[in-house]
Amino acid sequence: MNIRCARPEDLLNMQHCNLLCLPENYQMKYYFYHALSWPQLSYVAEDDGGKVVGYVLAKIYSASLFLREEDPDDAPHGHITSLAVRRTHRRLGLAQKLMDQASRAMVECFGARYVSLHVRVSNRAALHLYEKTLKFKREDVESKYYADGEDAFAMKRDLSGLA
Ligand code: ACO
Repeated sequence: MNIRCARPEDLLNMQHCNLLCLPENYQMKYYFYHALSWPQLSYVAEDDGGKVVGYVLAKIYSASLFLREEDPDDAPHGHITSLAVRRTHRRLGLAQKLMDQASRAMVECFGARYVSLHVRVSNRAALHLYEKTLKFKREDVESKYYADGEDAFAMKRDLSGLA
């Protein structure tokens, strides 16, 4: 098993993995948007035959890029757009490694102070990973965040320990 930075030729396989694992699906141009804008931040897990069995798709929010003056309260931060590991390869620590690699790259390449994400309130496995393993904190509940009407927890993890 190997974790490495995602390359443009991985994007179709990442989309395939997403379709197998999650109801939140994206057009190929959204994968390209991530890969072209922040090529350092998205990672894949591949099996010994080089097949993509998991991915993390990540980006940076930096509102100060659009402001005339630097606002110290408006630090750049990372965001996890999507994370998934194929059923056959779960509970091997792959999601934890993908998240750690993306978070480290957010700090090293973009000076991110924290990373945010949304997760379904019913997603026990992901909540366990985020809260117990990765020490994310619940910030808010976003009502009807998902297309089927389910609420999301908005979560954040402080990355200052990685700086
Ligand atoms: N039940 C309870 N805790 C779990 C579970 C589970 N089913 N799966 C993972 N965890 C927790 C455990 O604490 C685990 O540590 P342990 O195995 O030492 O007990 C820890 O997370 C690390 O687990 P990993 O092996 O790294 O997680 P895995 O590679 O299995 O992937 C994931 C977890 C991504 C949630 C996987 O189950 C999955 O792909 N689910 C479907 C897609 C999904 O829900 N993605 C997240 C949506 S939110 C978003 O994308 C921002």
